[in-house]
Amino acid sequence: MKKKISLIGAGQIGGTLAHLIALKELADVVLFDVAEGIAKGKALDIAQSSSVEGFNINISGTNNYEDTKDSDVIIITAGVPRKAGMTRDDLLGINLKIIKQVADGIKNTSPNAFVICITNPLDVIVMALQKYSGLPKNMVVGMAGILDTSRFKYFLSQELNISVKKIESLVLGGHGDTMVSMLNHTKVDGKLVLDLIKEGKLKKESLDRIVQRTKSGGAEIVKLLEKGSAFYAPAASGVEMAESYLKDLKKQLPCAAHLKGEYGVNNLYLGVPVIIGKNGIEKIVTIDLNDIEKKNLEHSISAVKELFDAAKKIDSFLG
Ligand code: APR
Repeated sequence: MKKKISLIGAGQIGGTLAHLIALKELADVVLFDVAEGIAKGKALDIAQSSSVEGFNINISGTNNYEDTKDSDVIIITAGVPRKAGMTRDDLLGINLKIIKQVADGIKNTSPNAFVICITNPLDVIVMALQKYSGLPKNMVVGMAGILDTSRFKYFLSQELNISVKKIESLVLGGHGDTMVSMLNHTKVDGKLVLDLIKEGKLKKESLDRIVQRTKSGGAEIVKLLEKGSAFYAPAASGVEMAESYLKDLKKQLPCAAHLKGEYGVNNLYLGVPVIIGKNGIEKIVTIDLNDIEKKNLEHSISAVKELFDAAKKIDSFLG
């Protein structure tokens, strides 16, 4: 039987998600937005490409949660993107209100869905979404690490003039300025990136620059676009998570997941490697960290905690 994916938010990322899902024939798609015309218009536009592209799925737009009923997957991008000069954290107040509405809309209509949140500030918004909706923690997850890792790999591939396919890496922690590129888990063609520095094949300054550029990878795009934030790479990353769930691929992917003791973190969402399969987050993968990685991750954990404290001040329900 065909699967159903509902996309809550039919803006830049929502529209791109719909297009990618259609091209992959991953599932039927319902685009939901408070701006009904945008959801319907994008659905119709994508549907009209089906005879050219040769895909066979149903796609529709709506502003009624009933139409998203019994979704297998829900991907949330409802919210406001940042403008130039803003950090993701600046979006907290407004996107918290929006995510509460979304949680109310999906919790009774799709209680069994695998829910992927993309709305920023990611780690805190996905934590709030889980609390507001009451949906199981292994079924509510945030998209960030795949995107951050993909940016890091791309910059490294450009610097070393090597295919991204030959680079393995992980960017973990919060999806903000404190995200951590795990250099001791970064390999180029099977060799540790830190060894490339020792061998003089990569300058330490270049690697530092790439780590920094990854942290501000989203802001770089916000500045260039002048209007809105990144959407192609975020959408591709969200689809990878949905696909691993729907096809039970059990891929190991860096995602914002609920931790209960792992990495020394209790009751907080944070970007860590997880296994996604038919049961949602099937496993939190713990990797060995060296002292620098550990210190950087701790810094990131503090930043996420601090922002969650700010969220609790906005809405005491989250406390
Ligand atoms: N319910 C449903 N949809 C909503 C709601 C709501 N309560 N409030 C706003 N929206 C819709 C808007 O109408 C808009 O179409 O969310 C959509 C957001 O789309 P864009 O503004 O194009 O933003 P986008 O680039 O897709 O990013 C969405 O993801 O990466 C994050 O920081 C980004 O938080 C932002 C989110």
